Amino acid sequence: MHVVDDLERERGQRAVRIGLGLRVVRARGNHESATVFLPAVRPLLALAAELEDERNHVIPPPAQQSEELLANLSSLPADKQTPLRNQAGGHANHTLFWENMSPDGGGEPTGELADAINAAFGSFADFQAKFEDNGVTQFGSGWTWLVLDGGALKLTKTANQDSPILEGQVPLLGNDVWEHAYYLKYQNKRPDYLKAWWNTVNWAKVAERYSAAK
Ligand SMILES: [Fe+2]
Repeated sequence: MHVVDDLERERGQRAVRIGLGLRVVRARGNHESATVFLPAVRPLLALAAELEDERNHVIPPPAQQSEELLANLSSLPADKQTPLRNQAGGHANHTLFWENMSPDGGGEPTGELADAINAAFGSFADFQAKFEDNGVTQFGSGWTWLVLDGGALKLTKTANQDSPILEGQVPLLGNDVWEHAYYLKYQNKRPDYLKAWWNTVNWAKVAERYSAAK
């Protein structure tokens, strides 16, 4: 947590405690609306420094840069691919994670996202059950995802900090099932955390991602 605290001090961010024992850190100012939980940033910066001209460095790297690194991973130097997969993945995943949560979140999606979820998964309840199941059955650390894959909504899961971008998919919603995300409040009860997490989801933001990606 000290990394988050540093970021709060350095950038005047405010933290909001929500019912999950997680901290939502919202950026102020012009550093996107990105929210950051980043043990990943500093190692990523060190790696980026080896890959890019000094003048192009942005601190911290916007999530878009991490997404581009992931989309082009195979073209990067072989000895950098594994650390970038982990660190850029962690950055992109957590940025999406924080942006998709709100202290006023919860409820259900509306409009075309709701229609698409119902068409793809039968009902919102069925979608939630499968999303949770992917989270519960992810062995060890990882993520459960709603993605757009070739224009179709799909549910998937990834290990560690792997991003769906590595598979050519567009992540729309993801929940962090690393133990660090839930153990303070939920101990080993990952299924309970996955259920409670729905109360934080900012469906307007997810719908925005869907509209932009479809
Ligand atoms: Fe995490």
